[in-house]
Amino acid sequence: MDKIVIEGGVPLSGEITVSGAKNSAIKLMAVCLLTDEPLELTNMPRLRDTRFMGQLLACLGAKVEEAPGARLLLHAKTLTSTTASYDLVRKMRATFNVLGPILAREGKAKVSLPGGCAIGARPVDLHLDALKALGAQIELSDGYVIAEAKNGLKGAEITFPFISVGATEHTLLACVLAKGETVLNNAAREPEIIDLADCLNAMGAKISGAGRSEIRIQGVSRLKGISYSVVPDRIEAGTYALAAATAGGSVRLVNVRSEHLGSLWPLIAKAGATVTMDDNSVLIERGQGTPLRPVDMETQAYPGFPTDLQAQFMAMVCLADGVSIIRENIFENRFMHCPELVRMGANITVTGREAIVRGVERLTGAPVMATDLRASASLVAAGLAADGITEISRVYHLDRGFENIDVKLGNCGARIKRVSETG
Ligand code: UD1
Repeated sequence: MDKIVIEGGVPLSGEITVSGAKNSAIKLMAVCLLTDEPLELTNMPRLRDTRFMGQLLACLGAKVEEAPGARLLLHAKTLTSTTASYDLVRKMRATFNVLGPILAREGKAKVSLPGGCAIGARPVDLHLDALKALGAQIELSDGYVIAEAKNGLKGAEITFPFISVGATEHTLLACVLAKGETVLNNAAREPEIIDLADCLNAMGAKISGAGRSEIRIQGVSRLKGISYSVVPDRIEAGTYALAAATAGGSVRLVNVRSEHLGSLWPLIAKAGATVTMDDNSVLIERGQGTPLRPVDMETQAYPGFPTDLQAQFMAMVCLADGVSIIRENIFENRFMHCPELVRMGANITVTGREAIVRGVERLTGAPVMATDLRASASLVAAGLAADGITEISRVYHLDRGFENIDVKLGNCGARIKRVSETG
């Protein structure tokens, strides 16, 4: 197993090109199950999670081929299986989203209940209720969901009891080929939902309202193959922006849709960094003489502050000259990075969904453990700012969602290297 070793205290300076969005890419990959024609995805990140999804699609009968230039070629001419096994689905929760497309195409599907990051209970009740509303018969047996829709799925009006990104995407994937109209109320509004709808529409789907709470889908009988470019990763961009603010220096992020991080920029500026945006890039600067200031923050569904940047934001305010209160509203157990940051000298008290972060003058390097994908990124940011050496173990979490993080930060002057724990 690899670990990441960081010698902290060096300001960052340089340019980072942001990759395609992991959270979008894995759902776009599942789209290939809805057509017998080839689908090409460009601006594809190469990550553990996209590889997991590729393995699952291959087991279902799709041809999956990485091509030069961040391209991925997918072709599910026929499906050879309608089962997604526990072994494949436990590694990543989003693989569960193949259930709807398999069911839509084949009239039946058997998919294991998911695993994924240990950040709370994360049930799939909303997904299953939506599929039932579309006419699927659903049974749970031995950890599997067994779904059937012998006469195909039928459009329905579905009101989500609360906002779920995964359930909104999954329902979209299931209902594009359903008979008649589907209306989704209280849908998630994340840029990844728009990306999915844009791709499906380019293939011939009839979806309107993606990005708003009400989405309308007119079912179509078939979708055609296309080439589609994955939206830039707003969470990766936000992570590097926060790392630059935390460690100090000057970093230009390229291939960024800055409007997708509207909730982040004012808070970074409030913390003391300068944010300058142009068409496709964002420059983050904080001089060594500029102190970090405390900032309160709470996570919300989009367009609110993303839960996927909460841990990285916390690393920044650990070094502020005052007290910040951070509230996590999306997941009930997403403070696992706190004890690790405390090992580096941070002063954090967690009570339920709130963390009180009392800023300290300096963090010190320590051996720490990555606990989940985004938490790991907060340890990297803290390590860059800390005095001394930080060793982060279990970096496979990072590899799930950050393409070449050591190389990208190394190009900005960070003293960061990946070493094999056995070697
Ligand atoms: C997606 C993102 C994840 C992000 C999250 C919230 C992917 C691969 N992952 O996760 O990075 O942190 O959105 O922005 O895109 N819930 C239920 N029942 C359900 C579905 C969800 O109770 O059927 C709960 C979850 O436990 C959670 C909340 O709803 O507390 C929001 O989850 P959801 O928006 O569905 O997140 P994911 O799609 O899993």
